[in-house]
Amino acid sequence: GTARFTIDPDFALGTVDPRLYGTFVEHMGRCVYTGIHEPDHETADEHGFRGDVSRLVRELGTGLVRYPGGNFVSGYHWEDGIGPAADRPRRLDLAWRSIETNQVGTDEFLGWARRQGVEPMMAVNLGTRGIDAARALVEYCNIPGGTAWSDLRVKNGVREPHGVRLWCLGNEMDGPWQTGHTTAREYGRLAAEAGKSMHQVDPSIELVACGSSNARMPTFGEWERQVLHETYDEADYLSLHAYYEETGGDRASFLASGAQMDAYISDVVSTADHVRAVRRSTKRMKLSFDEWNVWYQSRFPGERALPLEERPRLIEDTYSVTDAAVVGSLLMTLLRHADRVAVACLAQLVNVIGPIRSEPGGPSWRQTTFHPFALTARHARGTVLRTEVSGPVIETEKHGPVQALDTVSTLDPESGELTVLAVNRHQEQSLRLSAALRGLSAPYRVTEHLQIADPDPDAANTEAEPDRVVPRPVRDTAVSAEGELEAVLPPVSWSVIRLT
Ligand code: AHR
Repeated sequence: GTARFTIDPDFALGTVDPRLYGTFVEHMGRCVYTGIHEPDHETADEHGFRGDVSRLVRELGTGLVRYPGGNFVSGYHWEDGIGPAADRPRRLDLAWRSIETNQVGTDEFLGWARRQGVEPMMAVNLGTRGIDAARALVEYCNIPGGTAWSDLRVKNGVREPHGVRLWCLGNEMDGPWQTGHTTAREYGRLAAEAGKSMHQVDPSIELVACGSSNARMPTFGEWERQVLHETYDEADYLSLHAYYEETGGDRASFLASGAQMDAYISDVVSTADHVRAVRRSTKRMKLSFDEWNVWYQSRFPGERALPLEERPRLIEDTYSVTDAAVVGSLLMTLLRHADRVAVACLAQLVNVIGPIRSEPGGPSWRQTTFHPFALTARHARGTVLRTEVSGPVIETEKHGPVQALDTVSTLDPESGELTVLAVNRHQEQSLRLSAALRGLSAPYRVTEHLQIADPDPDAANTEAEPDRVVPRPVRDTAVSAEGELEAVLPPVSWSVIRLT
């Protein structure tokens, strides 16, 4: 079949915030230790961070990294992670039943982020702690000096303030698994007061209030409404989290996960706008989708079944071509909501459901999902254009009928580059893409079409075969004499088509 749509610069929908290409480093499993940080590794820099992983993080093109959790943050004493490394306590991390050595803490992470050229997004503990620890951390990070906490940072060797702009007010406080789990009203009050204090320390920071842990939570909708009611003045963003996996062999629904993400975002936007109306506010709450990915969560045994270890191997999912198509498609969904979703974090960055994998003392490599993320981050810039697809439809059990073609286009006003991202969700049939190019100043031609596709949709990259799945150039994609972009998309494939 053929899927048709029109690309027209007049159909501008929003601007891509580079913070949409965020990721997440949690003190969990091997994300930090033997992930980004491994002093004994042959590629380690003078700060103990792995050079090979740093290079891959750069290539991934992530503009923002959230830290230090996740569930971890809800039991974290940030003071354990500062000062001379040899004096730092070994703590029980009860979120992941692990031993936390605290060898990496606030200064190490923020130093790494600065050297990597990524913006940090920090989270404060509103599980076991509260206002005082939160405002002290902002003081430690952002006040130049002359106060107890800022002078301590200087004493610890960091002269210049870290200048962290974006802060999460806790993590997933609606989840019964969360340390300090609470009700929307109680969390909303605490978040508002912690946020007020943090703003008193540094009025320039931006704050993210916790939304639901996912749209299936029994409190979803009502949680958002009550939390926003309490935090509307202090918060700049409301968070969303979602993980997707194939269940019961229902791959058609899995490939259409973007439909669920789309509905979830729309529901949160509606709820936020309801609160705005009730409060007669002119402020339009933005969204931070600060955890999203494919995660084979049904294979996770649960925290209590975990052995008590340092840097255990936790949720090191290996991703397939199908997973890469889904990750690419979820990114497109985020882009289509660029008018309201300003921040998003692929969870997580290394090893723990990460696009990058690394072995202790060994190599690092790109998972299949690395590629759609990196290419989208590099090329989908500027203005997102609204497109309406008409073409073959797939019936799915979980999401009803969905278009076989998932697509989004961006136009960079500076370079004039037009980028078309496309996923064929069909599992057996190729799809013809036909896009009418309208209202563009000059005749556009295709400069590159890269594609992830494989006869085996379960193919993956492993330590033994790290480049089994890579984006490959497609030659026949072109703009016809009639001004139509024509491409062929194999089953379960992801594509980026670039035009100038
Ligand atoms: O990313 C893994 C975990 O998923 C995070 O710690 C938590 O916030 C979410 O439930």
